[in-house]
Formats: sequence, structure tokens, C-alpha cells
Amino acid sequence: MAGYSIDITKRKQIEEALRESEKRYRIIFERSPLAVVRFDSEGLIVDFNDRFIDMMGSTREKLLGFNSMKQSTPEMSEIIKKALSGEIVSYEGSYTSVTGGKTTFLRGLFNPVTPGHSPTDVIAALEDITELKKHEKEQQKIEKLESLGLLAGGIAHDFNNILTGIMGNLSFSKVLLNTEHRAQKPLAEAEKATRRAAELAQQLLTFAKGGEPNKKVVSLQRLISDAVSFMLRGSNVKPIVTIPTSLHAIRADEGQICQVLNNLIINADQAMPGGGTLTITGRNEAFQPANSLHLGAGPYIRLDIHDTGCGISPDSLAKIFDPYFSTKISGTGLGLATAYSIIQRHKGHISVSSTIGAGSTFTILLPSIGTSVGEMSVEAKETTVSPKSGSILVMDDEQMIRDIAEQILSFLGYEVTTCKDGEEAIKLYRASLESHKTYAAVIMDLTIPGGLGGKETAKHILASDPAAHLIVSSGYSNDHIVANFRRYGFSGAITKPYNIDDFKKVLSAVSARIAEL
Ligand SMILES: Nc1ncnc2c1ncn2[C@@H]1O[C@H](COP(=O)(O)OP(=O)(O)OP(=O)(O)O)[C@@H](O)[C@H]1O
Ligand SMILES: [Mg+2]
Repeated sequence: MAGYSIDITKRKQIEEALRESEKRYRIIFERSPLAVVRFDSEGLIVDFNDRFIDMMGSTREKLLGFNSMKQSTPEMSEIIKKALSGEIVSYEGSYTSVTGGKTTFLRGLFNPVTPGHSPTDVIAALEDITELKKHEKEQQKIEKLESLGLLAGGIAHDFNNILTGIMGNLSFSKVLLNTEHRAQKPLAEAEKATRRAAELAQQLLTFAKGGEPNKKVVSLQRLISDAVSFMLRGSNVKPIVTIPTSLHAIRADEGQICQVLNNLIINADQAMPGGGTLTITGRNEAFQPANSLHLGAGPYIRLDIHDTGCGISPDSLAKIFDPYFSTKISGTGLGLATAYSIIQRHKGHISVSSTIGAGSTFTILLPSIGTSVGEMSVEAKETTVSPKSGSILVMDDEQMIRDIAEQILSFLGYEVTTCKDGEEAIKLYRASLESHKTYAAVIMDLTIPGGLGGKETAKHILASDPAAHLIVSSGYSNDHIVANFRRYGFSGAITKPYNIDDFKKVLSAVSARIAEL
């Protein structure tokens, strides 16, 4: 009797322990952050947690008893078959649920309940890694862009030097010829085309390399009308530009804002191959703190660029600001990505709305200075070349650039000395100090492969002569040093490729500064 009662107590203890174990298993099963599903040995779904229903986008009723061999892909059927025959199988890939239709990126392990036995029940633990994959893709995109940036940076230096040779010579030829000469027009056209080639190189650089905007007060009226007339030349698209003179000015990098406008106008033009209307309107707006666009509080300008073109499908709409996204045969897909990054860097906002077949509207918001500047920013009228005096030192590693700079500057009335690196420039500058014939200005290239570049050279020259007038020259208009040239001791900056006017401007700005001192 005593032995029997001990047996019962033991059995009860075992049963209790089993119940406890089952309870614990249930808790793990139900509350697991992973989706857990159990298949019986025939592949029918017999148990699963809520996370699994969620992951499949399905319902308990549809899932319970579902024959998991009926998969949409043979790959998944094969995995389940292998697991049912006792093999542990892992899976990572895209999966579309048969009962719920939801597509996710899954990572999971299919565990046979009795490994090595066939057939067996199977418990699978699955993780939704869709977000992780998205993040990985973003990272890949960024890495791709970094290598593109390296390539662009490498090419841009050489490309700009070549363009400097072309543009410098073209602008020089123009001033050598009589203003009425028949060659003036084609030369001007060629110069414009070179400018456009330079802009393209800058576009790639701006996008790939980032770069700090070179900000100044910009009035948009002229910028927009120039961009429209330049970009729509020869097009059958009718522009309607309504920018009130009361539109506030912005503090921005003029070149970069031009790129944004150009890209949007080109896209609109390309969306209307049979003609149409491009409407650009501008108005002042103000944003309060904690606004829905997460913009800083303050005054803004708003530009709406509307076309009556083909429109953008909802599918494409989600991707158009992605780098490389293009539906055009010869498109790079960098136009809008560049626009996006520029607007971001100006602490603004760009958005789009579109109706397929009816047209698209791009809306840009940019912080404004809260007042308009009227005609203040209109460029100085072309002045006749008044000979200047003084001697200028030009440092550049490229013979072609030294030659054209020398020709232009001599034509402008300066005496010119050239040299090919920083070491030579320092020697020449010191010699000029000693002979009391100090250079009026030194124009120096920022990057000299294998030699002392502009930044270092400037330090040395300024150490001998703190009053030296140094002008940095570079192919990278977005370079930090070019954008903040004063911080590095320069009095001016000039971006390659340059023409006579660019030289005139930078030298007069420098001489204005000399006068200020
Ligand atoms: N105004 C528009 N109307 C219709 N579709 C547009 C418009 N603007 C952009 N898109 C769509 O967005 C895509 C991306 O534009 P994005 O300017 O970035 O590159 P792209 O124009 O294709 O190439 P690229 O600018 O290098 O020539 C375009 O291919 C086009 O499908
Ligand atoms: Mg484009």
C-alpha cells in the first residue's frame, strides 16, 4: 500500500512538472519576438503565435490547418519538405504569404521536432528582417555613391583644367575681336556650352562630394528667369513665371540653387515632349515652431514648379529622389537626388505631387531673409576693360592653365609671373618682397599633385607678408576652403573653368577689399 501511494505522488509530481514545463513553453511560444509556427508531420499548420499571424498578414482561421506544402515558390515547399524529413534547414529571403498575400524579407530556422526521423513535426522560428534589408540597401547606395564620388573627384580635376583652357581661350578670343565681328555669336555660344559642361561636372561633385554651400544673399527673380530662358531655349514649352518683386531674398549658394532650378526645369521640359506649360510661382511663407514639415521656425519662400507633362506613377513617385532612379534611356537619375541634397543642405524642403497624364508640381521651401533686396543683386554691367597695373603671380601645375591665365591677365593690364607649385610661389613672393616690388595678388591652385598646394602656400606667404592678397583657384566650387576662403587667409576665390569676366570680378573684389583696409 505504502509503495503504491508513493507511486501516485511521484506521478502527480511528474504531471505537475510537465504542466509547468508546458506552461513555460507556451509563454515562450506566445511571447516570442519571433514568429513561431508548428507543422505536423504532413505539413499542416497546427499551432502558431500572434506574431506569425501578423507576419503573414493573415488570420487565425485561414492559417490553422493550412497545408504548407502549397507554397507560392517551389523553394519554400522544398525547405518545408526537407524539415519534415528530419533535416534542420535555414532560410533567408523574400517570402509572400499564400493566405495573407503579405511580402516580407524573412530569416528563419525550420527545426524538426525529432531530428533525423522522417516524417516529423517541425517548429519554425522566423524573423522579419525587411527593415534591416532596407537599411542594408540604403547603406549599399551610400557606398555606391562614395565610390562614384571618388571617381567624379578624380575626373573633375582634369576635366575642369581642360575646360579652363577652352573657356579662357574662347573668352579671350571674344575680347580680341571687334564686338561686331561675325565670330562673336558662335564664340559666345561655345562659351555657354563650356559653362554648361562645367555645371554638369559641378553637379556630379555637389551630389557626390556633398560640400558646404557658399552662401550669400540671393534674389530669385533673375535666377529663375535666367534658368527658364536658358533651359527652355528651342523648346516648345511655354513658360509662365510669376515671381512678385516682394518675394523675399534667400541666403543661399547661387550656383547650387541654379542647379536645382535647372534640374527641375529640364525634367519638366522632358516630361512635355509635345509641348505644354511650365508655371513657376513664388510667394513668401512663414513657419511656426513644431510644424508638420519639421522645418525651423521663421520666414520662408515657396516656389511651385508646375508642368502639364506626363505625370509620375505612384510607384515611381516614391523613388524619384533616389540616386540613380531614372525612367529615361539616357538619364543618370542624379538630377532630383542632387536637388534633394542641395535643398537639405539649405535647411529647406522639396516635395512633389503628380497626377498621371495631367502633370506634376514640385514645391520648394527655403528659409528666406525676411525682406526682398530689389535689384541690388543685379550683376554689375559689363565694363570696358580698363588696364590695371601691378604684377600678379599665378601658381598652377597645368601648363595650359598657366598660359591662358597669363594671356588674360596681361590683356587686362597686369604683369604676370607664373609658377607650377607652392615652393616656387613662396620663393618668388619672398624675392618680390625683398626687391620691394610685391605682387598685387597671387592666384593659386588649391591642389597641386605631389607639391605644396594653395592652402599651405598661403600660410607661408602670409607668414612673410600678412598683407598679401591671395586668391584661391579650384575646380571644386563646393570645396570647404573655396566656400570659406577668408577663414584660410585668402582675399578671394575663383572657380575653374574661368573666363575673363571671372578674373575681372575676383580682382575687383580683391581690390575693393584692399581699398577697405
Ligand atoms: N516633371 C516630371 N514629370 C514626370 N516625371 C518626372 C518629372 N521629374 C522627374 N520625373 C521622373 O523622375 C525620374 C528621376 O528624375 P531625375 O531628374 O533624378 O533623373 P533623370 O531626369 O531621369 O536623369 P538626369 O536628370 O540625370 O537626366 C525621371 O526619370 C522621371 O521618371
Ligand atoms: Mg533629370
